[in-house]
Amino acid sequence: MSEAPAEWAGTMSNNDLAIVVLAAGKGTRLKSSLAKVLHRAGGRTLVEQIVRACEPFKARETVVVVGHQAEQVTAVVEPFGATTVLQQPQKGTGHAMQMAKRALGRAKFAVVLPGDAPLVRTETLKALIAAHRNGNAAATILSAVLADPSGYGRILRKSENTVSAIVEESQLTAEQREINEINSAIYCFTLEKLWPALAQVKPNNQHRELYLTDAIAVLSARGETVLAQVAADSREVLGCNTRADLAEVDRVFREWKRSALMDAGVTIQLPETVLIDPDVTAGEDTVIEPGVQLLGKTKMGARCTIRTGSVLADAILGDDVTVEPHCVVAQSRLDDRVIIGPFARLRPDNHVKAGARIGNFVELKKSTVGEGTKAMHLSYLGDAKIGAKSNIGAGTITCNYDGFHKYPTTIGNKVFIGSDSALVAPVRIGDGAYIAAGSTITENVPADGLGIARGRQVNKSGWAAKKRRELAAEEKPKKSSPRRSQRKPRRKAKKHK
Ligand code: UD1
Ligand code: MG
Repeated sequence: MSEAPAEWAGTMSNNDLAIVVLAAGKGTRLKSSLAKVLHRAGGRTLVEQIVRACEPFKARETVVVVGHQAEQVTAVVEPFGATTVLQQPQKGTGHAMQMAKRALGRAKFAVVLPGDAPLVRTETLKALIAAHRNGNAAATILSAVLADPSGYGRILRKSENTVSAIVEESQLTAEQREINEINSAIYCFTLEKLWPALAQVKPNNQHRELYLTDAIAVLSARGETVLAQVAADSREVLGCNTRADLAEVDRVFREWKRSALMDAGVTIQLPETVLIDPDVTAGEDTVIEPGVQLLGKTKMGARCTIRTGSVLADAILGDDVTVEPHCVVAQSRLDDRVIIGPFARLRPDNHVKAGARIGNFVELKKSTVGEGTKAMHLSYLGDAKIGAKSNIGAGTITCNYDGFHKYPTTIGNKVFIGSDSALVAPVRIGDGAYIAAGSTITENVPADGLGIARGRQVNKSGWAAKKRRELAAEEKPKKSSPRRSQRKPRRKAKKHK
């Protein structure tokens, strides 16, 4: 046979295969203004997860049936080379499949998947297709055995290997309710057998919909081979009809991701408290403490430590980086041996170079911090370019915004910025310069110079003691004098003009 497994197993090129994702439904049970397949689990929309799982097959067509929020769903799947067909109105999964017919071209087989069961793995689909081809079947159903099968269609077996029907939850007899082998709604069909069977399906249900599941009984009654392949990991078939389903599916994705990182040599403490997006990577011996979130395309080198409560989104970390507790980092680079936090906030576009130190309550935005430079306490550094081995004192603020525009601050190498300095941008501080504590710097400071910009201190000897004596004298109670509260004010407050 031309479709011998060896032909496709290596290259995964499936020239006779189409993928159909049914993603037109609204998802009424989610009670949401967002179409069901646009909800997210494991860091991606449901429909994206499914299209990605099918990508390695290089099928001749990948067709996504869209309806609710068709434009948004199309925008998600098109980058993966999928085409979409519109199902309007949505009259059931069987009707959705009919809508896809023309787009399937000359494909002989179709793997059909619902848009709401995103946990299915490529390997599982590969085995489903192999079982279908090898069994010369008209339909092969991916089934699963669940402890709690409620909500799913049930598989009625004809023999040990073959299936006679799928019965939807609403149509189960009391006896059938006990069946715990369920329909995942993932199938492989031989299309020339499916179409005539589907044409015979009637909308015999309370929703007046055409159920794709009803085509199974038709095929079986016609003497066609209908197989069911039980998924090795039953979690792979979980469908997302409710918010609780979504939470459960998300939990499984997150667990898989953490396991993959642990397998790659990453330590994760209390793993169930750690949330990691699918594209995140980490080098060996990196340690992730409880309650951490690693989002987007965050990449961490080897031996990093991400301490509790920190959230990293699209952060790029070198080796041996320490993120102390409760830091928030977005779209920033931290080079080798950088230490930030606790309680540091890095807004987008920062580059903190090797060995630099960003301490507690320091906020960075669009700033470069040179090698070995320290900003340890309570600072705002925005639109700043800071050289190597400089020290940014506690409470230093770059005044980068005048209400209209943003301006840069440039600080050289080995600069010492005294505490509580305001650097009013645009301004440049030359290499090796000093800024006296408490200065408001509005002009450039030359290299190796001192910038001091504050009121000169005056000490008045005896002033405090004298003041206390005056006040005490005023306060002495006089017998005849009225109570303090009834006295006239000694003098009127001056009006300032
Ligand atoms: C379906 C199966 C059920 C199976 C379960 C597994 C049917 C009739 N039932 O039930 O046997 O156990 O999945 O999760 O198929 N859709 C369309 N157009 C429509 C209707 C639905 O594209 O007109 C899409 C939905 O967007 C969804 C998918 O088909 O992605 C499945 O529909 P859903 O309503 O979730 O079916 P279930 O009740 O879960
Ligand atoms: Mg469903």
